[in-house]
Amino acid sequence: MGASLEKRIERLTRREEETYRSRTRASLEKYTRLSRRMPEGVNYRIRRLRPHPLYIAEARDVRVRDVDGNWYVDYWMGHGAHIMGHTPRWLGEVVGEVYSRGYHFGYPSSLLEDYVDAILRAYPSMDAVKLTNTGTDANNAVMRAVRAYTGREKIVKMKGGWHGGSEALIVDVHPPYRGVETAGTVDCCVSSTITVEYNDLEALERALKEHRPAAVIMEPVLGAGGAIGPRPGYLREVRRLTEEHGVLLVFDEVITGFRLAPGGAVEFYGVEPDLVILGKIVGGGSPSAGAVLGKWEYMKCFDTGSWSGTPCFVGGTFSGNNLTLALGREMITRLLGMRGEYERAREVWREFAREAERTCGEETPCHVTGDSLLVGLHFTRRRPWNPTEAHELRWSREFNYLHHLYQRNRGALYLTEDTAHFLPSLLHSREHARLIVSNLEELLGELVRS
Ligand SMILES: Cc1ncc(COP(=O)(O)O)c(C=O)c1O
Repeated sequence: MGASLEKRIERLTRREEETYRSRTRASLEKYTRLSRRMPEGVNYRIRRLRPHPLYIAEARDVRVRDVDGNWYVDYWMGHGAHIMGHTPRWLGEVVGEVYSRGYHFGYPSSLLEDYVDAILRAYPSMDAVKLTNTGTDANNAVMRAVRAYTGREKIVKMKGGWHGGSEALIVDVHPPYRGVETAGTVDCCVSSTITVEYNDLEALERALKEHRPAAVIMEPVLGAGGAIGPRPGYLREVRRLTEEHGVLLVFDEVITGFRLAPGGAVEFYGVEPDLVILGKIVGGGSPSAGAVLGKWEYMKCFDTGSWSGTPCFVGGTFSGNNLTLALGREMITRLLGMRGEYERAREVWREFAREAERTCGEETPCHVTGDSLLVGLHFTRRRPWNPTEAHELRWSREFNYLHHLYQRNRGALYLTEDTAHFLPSLLHSREHARLIVSNLEELLGELVRS
């Protein structure tokens, strides 16, 4: 694509920024005030949209309203936590019930057993569960477990893989992969992390041979790395290779759990890892969500009774609180009975893929990636199979931002600005998916005409 295309993108971007500023004045005022007291004016960097973030005042079903009164169809859904919409009626009822009995005791709750049973019904190949408050905590706990079990230190992760802000795993997250992506870490945690390209079995095999790691910790479908799914047979081969080399396999299903299917990637792809990490949906929409699941053999390091050495630590003030237990159990139980709804929702997004790719055409191509209800939209020359390709094959450096702005100004909201990720709920309809396609069609029409 020539320079003139970048120029046209730039012109349209300036115009859309003007429109955005005039639609979102109250958000801008909030941002200006808040930035003086909170670095970046938002709590999580990926939420700091350009030219200024939106502040959301209300959410209902699949829509959110900003402080200026603009409503958006939401495709981000509480950062992927709300697979049944923002405000299912049962959620309010359960919150009310829990509140009347006390929402956090600080003692083992009578609800603990039902919650654990619900999780293990969704993941029948796993034996045991430990709860955390976040997906990041669950990754930390898993690292302790695999190191304690194997007596080895190294961990293999995927380039572009995101496992939260954990010291050892916030490494090679964004191309061009310059190692650790935060200041303030100490070498002990980071230097034992080895990264390989997703969907590349040779690179994985080399790493397993060379480093003999404790485990491979990977998202079965990369989330933050671009909603990129496995090539056919890839996960099965990862399983075979890890077994062959005596390395544990951990699926970080913080995004994919209950999203690809009620039993996550394990059910969807039929591949069994040794341990699974859950977050987001497992909390049933509550703000405390995280779990480690595994075969008893690997989980027993959390058990002072059956572990001979120093046990692995997991826990925290709000872990196992009643709100999470009650909402999570309700959510999982409902989802297990909704396989038909999952299939209907998958068809919505398969149709979206066909329509979006047809709309983009040959001059400004796009590729829809991911599986089931984890959907990526890449403006790349060909289909990317890893985050490096997603980055390098882009036909424009700035189009993603323009596309995000354009959708935002026309009532469609998602993250991230850099790569379009959609984490739709089971409630999203064909019309909701079509809104993105029709906005995209309008944008590409303008780009070609301008
Ligand atoms: C795959 C994956 N793992 C771990 C995390 C971290 O979870 P949390 O933000 O709950 O700490 C995330 C968060 O988005 C994630 O996507």
